[in-house]
Amino acid sequence: MSLLIGVPREVFPGEKRVASVPDVVQKLAKLGFRVAVETGAGDAANFADDAYRAAGAEVVPTAAELWAKADIVFKVRPPTPAEVGLMREGGTLIDFIWPAQNPELMQQLAAKKATVLAIDCLPRQLSRAQKMDALTSMAGISGYRAVVEAANAFGRLFSGQVTAAGKIPPAKVFIAGAGVAGLAAIGAAANLGAIVRANDTRAEVADQVASLGGEFVKVDYEEEGSGGGGYAKVMSEGFQQAQREMYAKQAREVDIVITTALIPGKPAPKLITADMVRTMKPGSVIVDMAAEQGGNCELTEPGKAVVKHGVTIIGYTDLASRLATQASTLYASNLLRLTEELCKAKDGMIVVDMEDQAIRGLTVIKDGAITWPAPPPKLPAAPPPKPAAAPVAAKKAHGEASGPMSRTKAAILFGAGALVFLLIGRYAPPSFLGHFTVFVLGCFIGYMVVWNVKPALHTPLMSVTNAVSSIIAIGALVQIAPDLTKISTNLSRPEEWIRWLAVIAIGLASINMFGGFAVTQRMLQMFRK
Ligand code: NAI
Repeated sequence: MSLLIGVPREVFPGEKRVASVPDVVQKLAKLGFRVAVETGAGDAANFADDAYRAAGAEVVPTAAELWAKADIVFKVRPPTPAEVGLMREGGTLIDFIWPAQNPELMQQLAAKKATVLAIDCLPRQLSRAQKMDALTSMAGISGYRAVVEAANAFGRLFSGQVTAAGKIPPAKVFIAGAGVAGLAAIGAAANLGAIVRANDTRAEVADQVASLGGEFVKVDYEEEGSGGGGYAKVMSEGFQQAQREMYAKQAREVDIVITTALIPGKPAPKLITADMVRTMKPGSVIVDMAAEQGGNCELTEPGKAVVKHGVTIIGYTDLASRLATQASTLYASNLLRLTEELCKAKDGMIVVDMEDQAIRGLTVIKDGAITWPAPPPKLPAAPPPKPAAAPVAAKKAHGEASGPMSRTKAAILFGAGALVFLLIGRYAPPSFLGHFTVFVLGCFIGYMVVWNVKPALHTPLMSVTNAVSSIIAIGALVQIAPDLTKISTNLSRPEEWIRWLAVIAIGLASINMFGGFAVTQRMLQMFRK
């Protein structure tokens, strides 16, 4: 008998999300699972019981019944002690757990002989894990919502306008921390028409900030901020001082500050001091997304919106839940992708494969044994850092010519090429030399075309050149076209063989041509907005 997935109603006060949505329930059924949903579980996210029923789920009246019958429970928030009490012994639980912050919960779940997959422990560095990355999908939604909250509390427009009643300047938004949430906030604020600036200790995000329409503001202090794995590290005192000065200047200039700065496992860095808040314009807004980890602003009160020194400081810790329909849909998709990994046979059963790096990272308790923390995943070796400019300078000092190729080398190469051509011209049949020249020029043009194109565009470029280069089709047509009417199946004559081979060549080259154009179209679609 296939396993039953249970989706209870979230009990955390104010939590509106639900761990699965009707569309995903249908897909879980296709994997062979049965699904049961507690009545009213999706109400706050606009998914009615009837929608779940229509998708094939059973709707059960109480949490107790749901927990008792479910083999696997999908949830959003970590379970309360009462919920753990309802859980079936030896059951499986998939949700946010935060094991470092919840040691007691871990013990309770272990005592239930449970298998627990904590979605917050996913090794996000693995590219295969991205489709299951609920932290990223929730942070993206929260960053967007932070801008909406700011716009709601701000008394002016975000976009600049020239109206009959006068000129409206665009709002200036400063975003501290350009991780997942920060980048989503930059995109949302820029789309609303604001002037957006952002800062992060990891200099590598500057391009991403610019690509979303923001301006990266640098701290005037040289220090690498990357602590590995895409996360930041704690910066030196000298850097922090320089950063405080820059933030104080931004606070005086901008209308809205959204802070998202965080280093995993550390209290949030205090970036906006009470003094900075005092210097902000009246009516300004701060949204402190790191409120739950202590806040990036000294005056933040977690979970609340307060007005201090004329500035509204928003410290909501439930931003994703405030966009419950969207957040639930994305979260449900993340869990579906995880379920697909657990149930490769599509037979409604799961296999928690501890050899699989992504699954190993997620599994914090296996059959009652605590397996957290998982060893760090083995990643492919990072490319070696680019050699510094120093060797070139050293070469120059030794009198060697700079540039891609020295003059002597180029002269030798040219001479050798000319010699080869001379020999070919002397001994090969005259028609060969013509073809050979076209071939060499073709190689040269192809090389120059590919060399000047960004690596990201190489695949569409190669597919289109593939399609264009199906010159074989033309050659084959030349072979059959003059005597098309005379083509016969009498294979005793060599010409017939050539003709039939040409027909096959046209068929194969057509796949190359039309396939190439189709792939190019699809690839280029990915670069269009
Ligand atoms: P992330 O780890 O992707 O981004 C954090 C960014 O802050 C990183 O780019 C890091 O380099 C940067 N950073 C660290 N120290 C810094 C410093 N001193 N100065 C400037 N930048 C610094 O995290 P993500 O997923 O974007 O989340 C951001 C914050 O939002 C976290 O605190 C997270 O807990 C919180 N969050 C809050 C929600 C809410 O409802 N309030 C919902 C989702 C996330």
